[in-house]
Amino acid sequence: MHILLGQTLSFTSDPFKSAPAEAATHHSTGAVAIDGGTIIAVGAAQDIRAAYPDAEVTDYGKALISPGFVDAHVHYPQTAMIASWGKRLIDWLNSYTFPEESRFVDPAYADQIANSYFDLVTAAGTTTTVSYCTIHPASVDAYFGAAQARGLRVLGGKTCMDRNAPDTLIDTATSAYDDSKRLLEKWHGVDRISYVITPRFAPTSTPEQLEALGALWREHPEVLMQTHISEQHEEIAWVQDLFPESRDYLDVYERFGLAGKGALFGHAIHLTERERDKIKDMDASLIHCPTSNMFIGSGLFDMAGLMEVGHRIGLATDTGGGSSFSMLRTMAAAYEVGQLSGTALHPAQLWWLATAGSANALHLGDTIGTLAPGYDADIAVIDLSSTPAIAQRSARAEDLWQALFPTIMMGDDRAITSVWAGGKKLF
Ligand code: GUN
Ligand code: ZN
Repeated sequence: MHILLGQTLSFTSDPFKSAPAEAATHHSTGAVAIDGGTIIAVGAAQDIRAAYPDAEVTDYGKALISPGFVDAHVHYPQTAMIASWGKRLIDWLNSYTFPEESRFVDPAYADQIANSYFDLVTAAGTTTTVSYCTIHPASVDAYFGAAQARGLRVLGGKTCMDRNAPDTLIDTATSAYDDSKRLLEKWHGVDRISYVITPRFAPTSTPEQLEALGALWREHPEVLMQTHISEQHEEIAWVQDLFPESRDYLDVYERFGLAGKGALFGHAIHLTERERDKIKDMDASLIHCPTSNMFIGSGLFDMAGLMEVGHRIGLATDTGGGSSFSMLRTMAAAYEVGQLSGTALHPAQLWWLATAGSANALHLGDTIGTLAPGYDADIAVIDLSSTPAIAQRSARAEDLWQALFPTIMMGDDRAITSVWAGGKKLF
């Protein structure tokens, strides 16, 4: 049994559906009690200490005890080529991404990058990631193995591609189905690991491969399915050429049984009215990747418009198309994209998106992303005065949200004081 002392922030409602500032409970002298891997109590420090007088205590002072961040769309194999200059999506994939992903044919390289990836993201306060691996099954073993060693709750899957990629990165419809199925059976539900069926995107799969992966999803409706949709105009036009019989991009996935509740659609910037309505009706998740969308020059995600009609939306770095491993930097970019689209997202909305909102998009809203009894003890402890620039600004704050916002806009891994995963302190 362990008690963490600090400020606590617990969302009690969705700040996109209610007054944002009132969507959370804040204890300025708060505490979180952990037993095993689970949170058992959150409240005022004196109450929690009185309830568990024998617990071990770690005092984080004025730091904020937050749920660990949930990064709902990443490519861990792109860790070493993040911040590659000057290309748009298709050229960026061909010039930088595919050559790097080809290196994962070497399982030792996959292990090395998976470990360095988790060191980087946990240092940034992230405790759950949802990753595309490469076409190589060993890249999935490397990712899940490195997460398992750290006690993290993670999701991911083998990326499937059987056309429009170099020979070194091509599988087939049959091998994609067989490998994905074997990896799913090997890893799904082991410790805190979840498998995700992962066709990269429509242009890199033949109809036969999409068909096979749709069949696998029908056989395993308990897992999520992730892919990309409507990120750039050139990509959308290419999909229309490759699948002339489809009404639009989403229709390709619909035809092959790859659209529905439990689908995670990355980017979703240039959706048609039909696609927006259909995704809402099927209750699929949209994953917003704001640093990536600005870095690759993709466009502005319509957070306000989509939230208004009740879409299920998560937030993500999309590394290495995204330009940061940090969900703080990602919240800042979401704020900036919102401003460019005419809506200033409230700090409560940004923090919720990076925690409970992303968890909800992954259908894990009862398990992670919130500080409350029964939730996994995945915690990031945040210093709200981590640099001189932030400290002088937060010193003027009149409430929690004003105290938080300078760290959202200017914070990085220097703000992350400590991270706990599954009730164990990582650092
Ligand atoms: N679309 C297909 N693959 C990718 C990828 O690796 N990154 C991004 N940003 N978009 C993609
Ligand atoms: Zn992506």
